[in-house]
Amino acid sequence: MASLYESPKLLGEYLLLHYGGERELCHPALPVPASVTSVPFPVRCVQELLDPALLPSPPSEITALEVGCAVGASAFELARHCHRVEASDYSASFIAAAQRLRSKGHHSATRLLEGTITAQFEAIVPPEIDRTRVSFSVQDATSLPAGMGPFDVLLAANLICRLPDTEAFLSKLAVLVKPGGQLLLTTPFTWLEEYTPRERWIGGINADRRSEEELIRRLSGEFRLHRCRDLPFLIREHERKYQLGIALGTCWIRR
Ligand SMILES: C[S@@+](CC[C@H](N)C(=O)[O-])C[C@H]1O[C@@H](n2cnc3c(N)ncnc32)[C@H](O)[C@@H]1O
Repeated sequence: MASLYESPKLLGEYLLLHYGGERELCHPALPVPASVTSVPFPVRCVQELLDPALLPSPPSEITALEVGCAVGASAFELARHCHRVEASDYSASFIAAAQRLRSKGHHSATRLLEGTITAQFEAIVPPEIDRTRVSFSVQDATSLPAGMGPFDVLLAANLICRLPDTEAFLSKLAVLVKPGGQLLLTTPFTWLEEYTPRERWIGGINADRRSEEELIRRLSGEFRLHRCRDLPFLIREHERKYQLGIALGTCWIRR
């Protein structure tokens, strides 16, 4: 399967989503609250869903896996709590950018103003984060190497509606999370046939089968729902065009 996330346009948009400040991201007339734009969405996924009180001790042994990490901001955020973070994505260009951010702490990026006019900005990992805790690799989340994990934390942000078989992916999560460990999932349930054949959508076809209830039903056997939050996110296409999504964020505890 070729990645649909290999264009310079998407690389710029995701570097902005992950590392952009309000100055780079926002138009003065943008009618979106600061709570959505002041902290990048991937950072909020960790801040709002991970429950640090439930992490095991000693901290030096806490491990995390992130799948579909894009350009890495949530993996770096996980490293505030977890000593070893394995992060992967199917896009080679996203992982190359994440690896550069890991080694240098910064990466110059391009944001579109209009047409072909662009401006540069610097994506920066917060300096207090120990970047050596994180490793990045190109991997297909639907065929992870056998014997991986289990981990104390697993994060998959806005990935499940980008997979060819969402149910198969969900059914493999339990073996990757330690008993008592945390599974963090976010998804706006944007079902599109270019990613997921219609017969594999877990919901969104009949009004009596909604995706949120189906997600909860499918995970509830092996996990207990601990937190459930709406997590808005803003993808800036150019100076005057944005996509506003509202992901459903959940934190699950492995039984
Ligand atoms: C909607 S983006 C979300 C990225 C990131 N988690 C975030 O919230 O900003 C979906 C991501 O999943 C990745 N992806 C798509 N299919 C994948 C697969 N089979 N295995 C791993 N990553 C995949 C894409 O390359 C992209 O980075």
